[in-house]
Amino acid sequence: MVEYDRVETDVLIIGMGGAGLRAAIEIIGRGLRVALVSKSLLGKAHTVMAEGGIAASVANVDSKDNWQVHFSDTVAEGVYIGDYRMAEILAKEAPERVYELERYGALFDRTPEGKIMQRAFGGHTYRRLCHVGDKTGLEMIRTLEDKILHTGNSRLLDETVITKLLKRDGRMCGAVGFSLRSGRFITFEYKAVIIATGGLGRIYKVTSNSHETTGDGIAMAFEAGAELRDMEMVQFHPTGMVYPPGVKGLLVTEGVRGEGGMLFNTKGERFMLRYSPEKKDLDARDVVARAIYHEIQNGNGTEHGGVYLDITHKGAAFIRKKLPGMYDQFKEFAGVDITKEKMEVAPTVHYFMGGIKVNPETAGANVDGLFAVGEAASGLHGANRLGGNSLADLLVFGMRAGISAAKYAAATNAIKPDSAEVEAEISRVNSFISGSATPAANPYEIIDSLRDVMSEKVGIIRNERDLGEALRVIGELKQKSKGVSVKGPVRFNQGLLGCIEMEKMLTVAECVVRSALYRKESRGAHTRSDFPKKLKEWKINIICTRSGGSVDLSTEPVPEMPEELSSLIKPEVYE
Ligand code: FUM
Repeated sequence: MVEYDRVETDVLIIGMGGAGLRAAIEIIGRGLRVALVSKSLLGKAHTVMAEGGIAASVANVDSKDNWQVHFSDTVAEGVYIGDYRMAEILAKEAPERVYELERYGALFDRTPEGKIMQRAFGGHTYRRLCHVGDKTGLEMIRTLEDKILHTGNSRLLDETVITKLLKRDGRMCGAVGFSLRSGRFITFEYKAVIIATGGLGRIYKVTSNSHETTGDGIAMAFEAGAELRDMEMVQFHPTGMVYPPGVKGLLVTEGVRGEGGMLFNTKGERFMLRYSPEKKDLDARDVVARAIYHEIQNGNGTEHGGVYLDITHKGAAFIRKKLPGMYDQFKEFAGVDITKEKMEVAPTVHYFMGGIKVNPETAGANVDGLFAVGEAASGLHGANRLGGNSLADLLVFGMRAGISAAKYAAATNAIKPDSAEVEAEISRVNSFISGSATPAANPYEIIDSLRDVMSEKVGIIRNERDLGEALRVIGELKQKSKGVSVKGPVRFNQGLLGCIEMEKMLTVAECVVRSALYRKESRGAHTRSDFPKKLKEWKINIICTRSGGSVDLSTEPVPEMPEELSSLIKPEVYE
């Protein structure tokens, strides 16, 4: 008989970032029980890394902005393979969600007339990002947390790791995990589960993502039968720090370029004028990231492998008011005063457009009782994401997921997970620490090798040979991962956490590589040097499903837009 704690709830939310917190508000508001779980600490989600703002066409700065233009920008940036209905919902509902966040207590920057201030970001036709200096994500988390803590009625379990989701009769009903803090195993019994665990940036070596973003929720949903979509679409943010090594990849907000910052190579050339004469430094993220990559490859990069980003011409007072986080970050970590010196920057893995396939209205996946939201879900951003659309996504679809999960839970009777399955999962997890005294492998060696191969072979520019090699290495690492074991108790055991994360990372990495091999064209964030053109026949979504122990790939046509929406967008152009 295995001993474990039990948590019974109506809705389980995995992830305490903006999406999870916003969903919880709806569930609490409907008088249902909700439990929120996070591997990390409350307040430390990756949401804080969306610094520059929330995209919403409130039109405070550019009066011509409206939901139609926001919709059109979102579809174009997603290179026409996004879910049009999600883009429509986002564009229409983002303004109200921003005002609501303000009512909850968020302190936005202001225009001289006292309205919410908006700034320019790449790919947005108008200045659209409602912001709080360069700490918008942080303010969002602070505000949502405050709201939840004050309304009460939620159960918050941070430093808690979920290892497996359980189903019965085709319906989601349970989860197994353990508390890092107490070292005790826990089973969760629920009627609906919302995956709000974010993306998978940490499968790469250089990323802006926090340590927790290891694809766990996506992998567990996949194991439970959920379809994954657009898994090849990994966004490289053009500007991450490159030096010193300890902060390599840390985000340098697009807000720097939004406020007038310009990119230069080591020859002093403003190279974006060559790559994008019209939009220059504020072109779409994929365009700017590729331009920086080529400059570095062509020998025009700095000794640390970056280019320069300069905003000194704006003056110290402006910079310290608009970009206080960037000022502190460079001063403290690199000893660089950005009011007087250039920043050194290079692309960093920032966002994952792929993820769990969801219904645009309900955020429901193809498995009963399973919902997904934010970066763990797919569809809204297609092949590329506009900056600021992620924070808008968390609010708009966080609310929708909360409402749908609450309605589902209210209309559903509880079923208990199979206790044999619970016990088997606890034994499986325990077996990582009761392994041999001389383990065949250490999880962190496997994770490091995975990060190396993903960074070297599945980067900004891809090709068949490199992707094939990445797949081969992942296969080897999967084999090797069977021999991992660690020592010590469950409590605060980073090695055990590493074993769990390693499994999830290998699962999602395989889906990324297989999908990237499958898409034989270049579109948005997915660039193939062997298939450099965008091709009409690839205007489709790639779907990954679990079949036995392997990954099955299939394709789906992108849904046809109704006339009233297609008339709003710029027609897609093929060479
Ligand atoms: O550059 C940034 O501040 C990032 C924003 C985003 O990814 O939405």
